[in-house]
Amino acid sequence: MTQLIYNEKSELLDDLAAFILKIGNEAIQERGRFNFVLTGGNSPKALYESLATTHRAALDWDKVYFFLGDERYVDPEDSQYNGLMVKNSIIEPLGVRADQVFYVNTRLPHAEAAADYKERIFAHFNGDLPIFDLILLGMGDEAHTASLFPYTTILNADEADVQSVYVEKLTTYRVSFSAPLINLARNIAFLVFGSSKAEAVKAVIEPLTKNPTLYPAQLIEPVSGNVTWFLDKEAAAMLTD
Ligand code: 6PG
Repeated sequence: MTQLIYNEKSELLDDLAAFILKIGNEAIQERGRFNFVLTGGNSPKALYESLATTHRAALDWDKVYFFLGDERYVDPEDSQYNGLMVKNSIIEPLGVRADQVFYVNTRLPHAEAAADYKERIFAHFNGDLPIFDLILLGMGDEAHTASLFPYTTILNADEADVQSVYVEKLTTYRVSFSAPLINLARNIAFLVFGSSKAEAVKAVIEPLTKNPTLYPAQLIEPVSGNVTWFLDKEAAAMLTD
Protein backbone atom coordinates (compact mmCIF):
# COMPACT_ATOMS: atom_id res chain seq x y z
CA MET A 1 0.00 0.00 0.00
CA THR A 2 1.27 3.45 -0.91
CA GLN A 3 0.01 6.68 0.60
CA LEU A 4 0.64 9.98 -1.14
CA ILE A 5 -0.25 13.09 0.84
CA TYR A 6 -0.57 16.54 -0.75
CA ASN A 7 -0.76 20.10 0.53
CA GLU A 8 -2.45 21.30 -2.64
CA LYS A 9 -5.41 19.66 -4.26
CA SER A 10 -4.19 20.79 -7.70
CA GLU A 11 -0.89 18.97 -7.18
CA LEU A 12 -2.74 15.83 -6.07
CA LEU A 13 -4.94 15.89 -9.16
CA ASP A 14 -1.95 16.41 -11.48
CA ASP A 15 -0.13 13.44 -9.94
CA LEU A 16 -3.23 11.26 -10.06
CA ALA A 17 -3.77 12.15 -13.72
CA ALA A 18 -0.14 11.19 -14.47
CA PHE A 19 -0.61 7.91 -12.53
CA ILE A 20 -3.74 7.06 -14.57
CA LEU A 21 -2.05 7.89 -17.87
CA LYS A 22 0.97 5.72 -17.02
CA ILE A 23 -1.20 2.72 -16.13
CA GLY A 24 -3.39 3.34 -19.18
CA ASN A 25 -0.48 3.55 -21.60
CA GLU A 26 1.12 0.40 -20.16
CA ALA A 27 -2.18 -1.51 -20.35
CA ILE A 28 -2.65 -0.51 -24.00
CA GLN A 29 0.93 -1.45 -24.82
CA GLU A 30 0.71 -4.82 -23.05
CA ARG A 31 -2.89 -5.88 -23.64
CA GLY A 32 -4.24 -3.55 -26.33
CA ARG A 33 -6.84 -1.84 -24.18
CA PHE A 34 -7.24 0.00 -20.87
CA ASN A 35 -10.15 -1.12 -18.66
CA PHE A 36 -10.71 1.84 -16.38
CA VAL A 37 -13.26 1.96 -13.56
CA LEU A 38 -14.35 5.42 -12.51
CA THR A 39 -15.71 6.46 -9.16
CA GLY A 40 -18.76 8.61 -8.55
CA GLY A 41 -19.25 11.27 -5.91
CA ASN A 42 -17.99 14.86 -6.07
CA SER A 43 -14.26 14.45 -5.59
CA PRO A 44 -13.29 13.15 -9.07
CA LYS A 45 -15.10 15.66 -11.33
CA ALA A 46 -12.12 18.03 -11.75
CA LEU A 47 -9.87 15.02 -12.41
CA TYR A 48 -12.12 13.75 -15.21
CA GLU A 49 -12.31 17.21 -16.76
CA SER A 50 -8.54 17.54 -16.76
CA LEU A 51 -8.10 14.09 -18.36
CA ALA A 52 -10.44 15.13 -21.16
CA THR A 53 -8.76 18.49 -21.77
CA THR A 54 -5.20 19.07 -20.49
CA HIS A 55 -4.24 15.38 -20.82
CA ARG A 56 -6.23 14.53 -23.89
CA ALA A 57 -3.21 13.92 -26.10
CA ALA A 58 -1.45 11.70 -23.55
CA LEU A 59 -3.49 8.53 -24.12
CA ASP A 60 -5.10 6.68 -27.03
CA TRP A 61 -8.67 7.15 -25.75
CA ASP A 62 -10.09 4.94 -28.53
CA LYS A 63 -8.62 1.98 -26.61
CA VAL A 64 -10.04 2.92 -23.21
CA TYR A 65 -13.15 1.23 -21.77
CA PHE A 66 -14.96 3.08 -19.00
CA PHE A 67 -16.97 1.54 -16.15
CA LEU A 68 -18.42 2.74 -12.87
CA GLY A 69 -17.71 0.84 -9.66
CA ASP A 70 -21.10 1.78 -8.32
CA GLU A 71 -24.24 3.61 -9.30
CA ARG A 72 -27.08 5.33 -7.52
CA TYR A 73 -30.45 3.76 -8.30
CA VAL A 74 -31.99 6.87 -9.82
CA ASP A 75 -33.09 7.77 -13.32
CA PRO A 76 -30.16 8.28 -15.76
CA GLU A 77 -31.31 11.89 -16.23
CA ASP A 78 -31.19 12.58 -12.47
CA SER A 79 -28.32 14.81 -11.30
CA GLN A 80 -27.45 12.12 -8.70
CA TYR A 81 -26.76 9.51 -11.39
CA ASN A 82 -22.99 8.95 -11.40
CA GLY A 83 -23.14 8.16 -15.10
CA LEU A 84 -24.38 11.66 -15.83
CA MET A 85 -21.44 13.32 -14.06
CA VAL A 86 -19.07 10.97 -15.89
CA LYS A 87 -20.79 11.61 -19.22
CA ASN A 88 -20.59 15.39 -18.81
CA SER A 89 -17.07 15.55 -17.40
CA ILE A 90 -15.14 13.01 -19.47
CA ILE A 91 -17.16 10.87 -21.88
CA GLU A 92 -18.73 13.55 -24.04
CA PRO A 93 -15.71 15.88 -23.95
CA LEU A 94 -13.53 13.01 -25.21
CA GLY A 95 -16.12 11.99 -27.78
CA VAL A 96 -15.52 8.26 -27.25
CA ARG A 97 -17.68 5.59 -28.90
CA ALA A 98 -20.81 4.32 -27.12
CA ASP A 99 -19.39 0.77 -26.98
CA GLN A 100 -16.50 2.04 -24.83
CA VAL A 101 -18.74 3.09 -21.94
CA PHE A 102 -20.54 0.79 -19.52
CA TYR A 103 -23.39 2.52 -17.68
CA VAL A 104 -25.79 0.90 -15.22
CA ASN A 105 -29.27 0.77 -16.73
CA THR A 106 -31.29 2.08 -13.79
CA ARG A 107 -34.49 1.97 -15.82
CA LEU A 108 -34.53 -1.77 -15.05
CA PRO A 109 -35.70 -3.10 -11.65
CA HIS A 110 -32.69 -2.79 -9.29
CA ALA A 111 -31.73 -6.49 -9.14
CA GLU A 112 -32.02 -6.76 -12.94
CA ALA A 113 -29.96 -3.60 -13.37
CA ALA A 114 -27.17 -5.24 -11.36
CA ALA A 115 -27.46 -8.55 -13.25
CA ASP A 116 -27.49 -6.79 -16.62
CA TYR A 117 -24.44 -4.69 -15.72
CA LYS A 118 -22.58 -7.78 -14.48
CA GLU A 119 -23.43 -9.70 -17.65
CA ARG A 120 -22.12 -6.94 -19.91
CA ILE A 121 -18.92 -6.65 -17.85
CA PHE A 122 -18.25 -10.41 -17.89
CA ALA A 123 -18.94 -10.49 -21.64
CA HIS A 124 -16.38 -7.71 -22.15
CA PHE A 125 -13.85 -9.97 -20.40
CA ASN A 126 -14.93 -12.93 -22.59
CA GLY A 127 -16.36 -14.80 -19.62
CA ASP A 128 -13.11 -14.68 -17.64
CA LEU A 129 -12.95 -13.03 -14.23
CA PRO A 130 -12.89 -9.26 -14.79
CA ILE A 131 -9.42 -8.00 -13.92
CA PHE A 132 -9.58 -4.25 -14.35
CA ASP A 133 -6.39 -2.32 -15.04
CA LEU A 134 -7.38 0.45 -12.67
CA ILE A 135 -10.25 1.02 -10.27
CA LEU A 136 -10.65 4.50 -8.84
CA LEU A 137 -12.46 4.66 -5.52
CA GLY A 138 -13.71 7.42 -3.26
CA MET A 139 -14.50 7.00 0.40
CA GLY A 140 -17.28 8.41 2.57
CA ASP A 141 -16.93 9.84 6.08
CA GLU A 142 -18.01 6.50 7.58
CA ALA A 143 -15.55 4.51 5.43
CA HIS A 144 -17.95 3.31 2.74
CA THR A 145 -16.37 2.85 -0.65
CA ALA A 146 -18.10 2.23 -4.01
CA SER A 147 -21.54 1.35 -2.54
CA LEU A 148 -20.17 -0.90 0.17
CA PHE A 149 -21.89 0.80 3.11
CA PRO A 150 -21.62 -0.25 6.79
CA TYR A 151 -23.97 -3.05 7.85
CA THR A 152 -25.18 -3.87 4.31
CA THR A 153 -25.65 -7.31 2.76
CA ILE A 154 -23.14 -6.80 -0.05
CA LEU A 155 -20.31 -6.83 2.51
CA ASN A 156 -20.83 -10.59 2.79
CA ALA A 157 -20.27 -11.23 -0.93
CA ASP A 158 -17.54 -13.82 -1.26
CA GLU A 159 -17.10 -13.71 -5.01
CA ALA A 160 -16.58 -11.24 -7.84
CA ASP A 161 -20.06 -9.89 -8.34
CA VAL A 162 -22.23 -6.88 -9.08
CA GLN A 163 -25.16 -6.57 -6.71
CA SER A 164 -28.00 -4.25 -5.90
CA VAL A 165 -27.95 -3.31 -2.25
CA TYR A 166 -30.43 -1.47 -0.07
CA VAL A 167 -28.74 1.31 1.90
CA GLU A 168 -30.96 1.97 4.86
CA LYS A 169 -29.49 5.31 5.84
CA LEU A 170 -30.06 6.64 2.31
CA THR A 171 -33.42 4.81 1.99
CA THR A 172 -32.44 3.81 -1.50
CA TYR A 173 -30.86 1.07 -3.58
CA ARG A 174 -27.41 1.24 -5.08
CA VAL A 175 -25.72 -1.04 -7.61
CA SER A 176 -22.12 -1.87 -6.73
CA PHE A 177 -19.12 -4.03 -7.44
CA SER A 178 -18.51 -6.46 -4.57
CA ALA A 179 -15.21 -6.23 -2.66
CA PRO A 180 -13.91 -9.50 -4.24
CA LEU A 181 -14.50 -8.00 -7.71
CA ILE A 182 -12.66 -4.81 -6.79
CA ASN A 183 -9.83 -6.85 -5.27
CA LEU A 184 -9.08 -8.58 -8.58
CA ALA A 185 -7.86 -5.30 -10.09
CA ARG A 186 -4.26 -4.74 -11.10
CA ASN A 187 -4.36 -1.26 -9.56
CA ILE A 188 -6.70 0.46 -7.12
CA ALA A 189 -6.46 4.16 -6.32
CA PHE A 190 -8.38 5.96 -3.59
CA LEU A 191 -9.04 9.67 -4.03
CA VAL A 192 -9.95 11.20 -0.67
CA PHE A 193 -10.24 14.87 0.29
CA GLY A 194 -11.17 16.76 3.41
CA SER A 195 -11.09 16.70 7.21
CA SER A 196 -14.45 14.94 7.46
CA LYS A 197 -12.74 11.81 6.09
CA ALA A 198 -9.75 11.85 8.46
CA GLU A 199 -11.19 9.37 10.94
CA ALA A 200 -12.21 6.93 8.22
CA VAL A 201 -8.77 7.22 6.57
CA LYS A 202 -7.15 6.37 9.91
CA ALA A 203 -9.53 3.42 10.50
CA VAL A 204 -8.75 1.94 7.09
CA ILE A 205 -5.03 2.65 6.68
CA GLU A 206 -3.93 2.28 10.31
CA PRO A 207 -6.71 0.18 11.84
CA LEU A 208 -6.72 -0.53 15.55
CA THR A 209 -9.21 -3.31 14.86
CA LYS A 210 -10.44 -4.99 11.72
CA ASN A 211 -14.17 -4.47 11.48
CA PRO A 212 -15.25 -4.24 7.84
CA THR A 213 -18.92 -4.30 8.82
CA LEU A 214 -18.32 -0.90 10.34
CA TYR A 215 -15.47 0.23 8.04
CA PRO A 216 -16.21 -1.39 4.66
CA ALA A 217 -13.17 0.10 2.91
CA GLN A 218 -11.10 -2.30 5.06
CA LEU A 219 -12.32 -4.99 2.64
CA ILE A 220 -10.19 -3.53 -0.13
CA GLU A 221 -7.14 -5.77 -0.23
CA PRO A 222 -6.14 -6.66 -3.78
CA VAL A 223 -5.32 -10.28 -4.53
CA SER A 224 -2.09 -9.35 -6.30
CA GLY A 225 -2.49 -5.71 -7.38
CA ASN A 226 -1.54 -2.43 -5.76
CA VAL A 227 -3.44 0.10 -3.68
CA THR A 228 -2.40 3.75 -3.79
CA TRP A 229 -4.05 6.42 -1.66
CA PHE A 230 -4.15 10.00 -2.96
CA LEU A 231 -4.96 12.10 0.11
CA ASP A 232 -4.99 15.78 0.86
CA LYS A 233 -3.37 16.78 4.14
CA GLU A 234 -6.75 17.26 5.84
CA ALA A 235 -7.85 13.71 5.05
CA ALA A 236 -4.45 12.38 6.20
CA ALA A 237 -4.38 14.43 9.42
CA MET A 238 -4.86 11.50 11.82
CA LEU A 239 -2.25 9.20 10.27
CA THR A 240 0.83 8.70 12.41
CA ASP A 241 3.27 7.21 9.91
C1 6PG B 1 -21.06 7.34 -4.88
C2 6PG B 1 -19.72 6.73 -4.71
C3 6PG B 1 -19.13 6.78 -3.35
C4 6PG B 1 -18.22 7.99 -3.27
C5 6PG B 1 -17.98 8.39 -1.85
C6 6PG B 1 -17.17 9.66 -1.74
O1 6PG B 1 -21.71 7.02 -5.83
O2 6PG B 1 -21.44 8.14 -4.02
O3 6PG B 1 -19.09 6.14 -5.71
O4 6PG B 1 -18.48 5.64 -2.93
O5 6PG B 1 -17.01 7.74 -3.91
O6 6PG B 1 -19.24 8.61 -1.25
O7 6PG B 1 -17.85 10.68 -2.37
P1 6PG B 1 -17.34 12.18 -2.41
O8 6PG B 1 -16.15 12.21 -3.27
O9 6PG B 1 -18.51 12.94 -2.98
O10 6PG B 1 -17.06 12.56 -0.99
